[in-house]
Amino acid sequence: MMTPRIGVLGRGLLPAGEPVLRGDDLGVLRGDGLFETMHLRDGRPWLRREHLARLRTGAAAVELTLPADTALVELLDEVAAGWPVEVEGALRLVCTRGPEGGGSPTVYATLSEVPPSARYARHDGVGVATLSLGVPAEARPELDWLPAGIKSTSYGASSAARRWAARAGVDDVLWISSDGYALEGPTANLVWLAGETLCTVPARRTGILPGTTVAWLLAHAAEVGCGAAERMITPTQLRDVDGVWLTSSVRGLVAVHTLDGTRLPPSPHTGALRELLGFPLP
Ligand SMILES: Cc1ncc(COP(=O)(O)O)c(C=O)c1O
Repeated sequence: MMTPRIGVLGRGLLPAGEPVLRGDDLGVLRGDGLFETMHLRDGRPWLRREHLARLRTGAAAVELTLPADTALVELLDEVAAGWPVEVEGALRLVCTRGPEGGGSPTVYATLSEVPPSARYARHDGVGVATLSLGVPAEARPELDWLPAGIKSTSYGASSAARRWAARAGVDDVLWISSDGYALEGPTANLVWLAGETLCTVPARRTGILPGTTVAWLLAHAAEVGCGAAERMITPTQLRDVDGVWLTSSVRGLVAVHTLDGTRLPPSPHTGALRELLGFPLP
C-alpha cells in the first residue's frame, strides 16, 4: 500500500505525524466544515470541476469563505504530484471553518490508496438493508434555515448507520423516509434501471447529496442505450426493477445483490455501466 499523503494550504506537503489542525478548529469541535472526495485515476482527480462546484455551492449555503479555485487546484496538484498512475487514489479536500473565535478556514487535502474493500465491492456487489431516516422524503428542503444536500464534515449520522450495518451483518444501508421512499446510502446514491431508463432519486426535492458520479452516469446513459430520469421509488418497488446499484466517487458503481435479505437478480448491465464510468475491477 502507498503511504498516505497530506498537504495543507499555505504549508505544503507535511511529513507523516505533523499536526494539521488546531484543537479549537471548529471542524473538530462542531463538525463545521465541508469536504469532497475525488477518485484519483491516471494520477488525476476525476470530475474535479464538478467536485469543486459542489464544494462552492455548499460553502455558499453554510456561509463559509473558500479560497479561490486556483489555490484549491494547486493544493490538489501538490498532493497528487508523483503518485503512480497505476494506483487508484482517494483524494479528499477538506475546508473547515477554522479556529474558534474567528480566523480563516483550514484547508487541507489527503490522498490515500483506494482500499481493497472498495475495489472488491465493484466485483462482488453489496448486501444492503433499509434503515429509517425518520423524516418525510420532502421535509428537509422545505426548511429554509437548513442547508440540504451539502457534503458536510458532520458525518455522525452516516457513521452511526455504518456501525448499524456492521452489527446487522450487511455491507451498506439504504435510508428510507418516514413516508416510505428510498433516498440514498450514508456515502452513496441509489441508481436503478426501470426498463431502459436509468433512474435516481431527485436531490433537490429530497435534500439528499447531489452525487457527482450519478450525475455523470445519467448524463452519459445514452452511450449504453439507456434514457435517464429522476424518480421516487419504494423498497418494495426496487425488488421488481431491472438492476439496483449504489454509486460514489471511490467505490464507483456497485451492484446491490441483496436488499433486506431478498436476493436481487444480477443485472446484465452492471459491467457496461461500470466500464462507462471508467472504474477498474480488482
Ligand atoms: C450521503 C452521500 N450521498 C451520495 C454520495 C455520492 O456522491 P459522489 O458520487 O459525489 O461521491 C456520497 C459520497 O460520499 C455521500 O456521502
